[in-house]
Amino acid sequence: MISHVLPTYNRAPIAFERGEGAWAIATDGTRYLDLGAGIAVNALGHANPALVAALTEQAGRIWHVSNLYQIPEQERLADLLVAHTFADTVFVTNSGTEAAELAIKMARKYWSEKGEDRSEILTFEGAFHGRSTGAIAASGGEKMVKGFGPLMPGFVHLPWGDMDALEAAIGPRTAAVMLEPVQGEGGIRPLPDADLRRVRALCDRTGALLILDEVQSGMGRTGKLFAHEWAGVTPDIMMVAKGIGGGFPLGAVLATEAAAAGMAAGTHGSTYGGNPLACAVGARVMEIVADPAFLSEVNRKAGLLRQKLEALVAAHPEVFESVRGQGLMLGLKCKVAPADLVKAGYAEHILTVPAGDGVLRLLPPLTITDAEIAEAVQRLDRAAGRLE
Ligand SMILES: Cc1ncc(COP(=O)(O)O)c(C=O)c1O
Repeated sequence: MISHVLPTYNRAPIAFERGEGAWAIATDGTRYLDLGAGIAVNALGHANPALVAALTEQAGRIWHVSNLYQIPEQERLADLLVAHTFADTVFVTNSGTEAAELAIKMARKYWSEKGEDRSEILTFEGAFHGRSTGAIAASGGEKMVKGFGPLMPGFVHLPWGDMDALEAAIGPRTAAVMLEPVQGEGGIRPLPDADLRRVRALCDRTGALLILDEVQSGMGRTGKLFAHEWAGVTPDIMMVAKGIGGGFPLGAVLATEAAAAGMAAGTHGSTYGGNPLACAVGARVMEIVADPAFLSEVNRKAGLLRQKLEALVAAHPEVFESVRGQGLMLGLKCKVAPADLVKAGYAEHILTVPAGDGVLRLLPPLTITDAEIAEAVQRLDRAAGRLE
């Protein structure tokens, strides 16, 4: 059959028609254990009753009004995000890419309002901030930018985690440092807590703003509401998306009042951003995920999964090298091509996601059960066996 969809993705020949918690059910009835969660999106699993209720209840009332009016659901989501984070103010977007765009604009506007010529943004190799022209320029990855130039100027790409390179590059022209506390697409690469504290200290010393991209690492994924909390530091601007909508398109930029000072009326906007439907779902997700009891369960389950994965790696030394990551944002560093393991996983009815740096990503719903964790590792064991 000829597809009329632009072929920018290499898609697996599987279509899903239904989901239940950690399970995605294909059109032929096969039940796949979903350790990809739509790339860290379905944080509360498929068809979560609380989210279905939030969505359908709101759908029966009002979907869209535009940001020309007060939107109580948007206010509620912003209140929740501010109550649980460093932030004083929130702009609601539809995606992580849109959050990246605003984060970049906000940082530059901050300095232009001060009358200072500081537009340079320091980013790290292996980063992924989205696919817009600004976000690819920020990431700088060869595959992402090739053929799309001229790129937006003003980004400097440093080797991942190289604090000395950061110290040498940061200075009076630096508007901001932008990074993922745990690189996702780059291969589940956590920045050590001490290094994140050093980034914060360098920003404080030079005045540069710290932008954290928590699109993938946020919303409970690492066992804290946001990954930077492990290091005990806060950013000036933070990008959120994926898990915050639990599967409904939603993102946000959170900022301190000072960092957002330049963003007056007319400086940014979005037709759909912050619509009542998305915000009703997002607020429900926040209520569930920000609960300390929920996060402590994430940590307990993460410990269980990690322990089983360590044993899996030991049992398949030809296939796996190590386990990395934090919480339920885990990666298996592979000795085989991760794409081959993803394929072997399909044969064992388990969904995983490849990442850079030879890593297979495991991003289960945060609601996965202990029994499903055990089942998942058995399926990964059989998938690995197929490649030996
Ligand atoms: C860290 C990070 N930032 C930004 C994005 C872009 O988000 P979206 O695909 O929602 O535009 C992603 C998506 O994978 C991401 O992982």
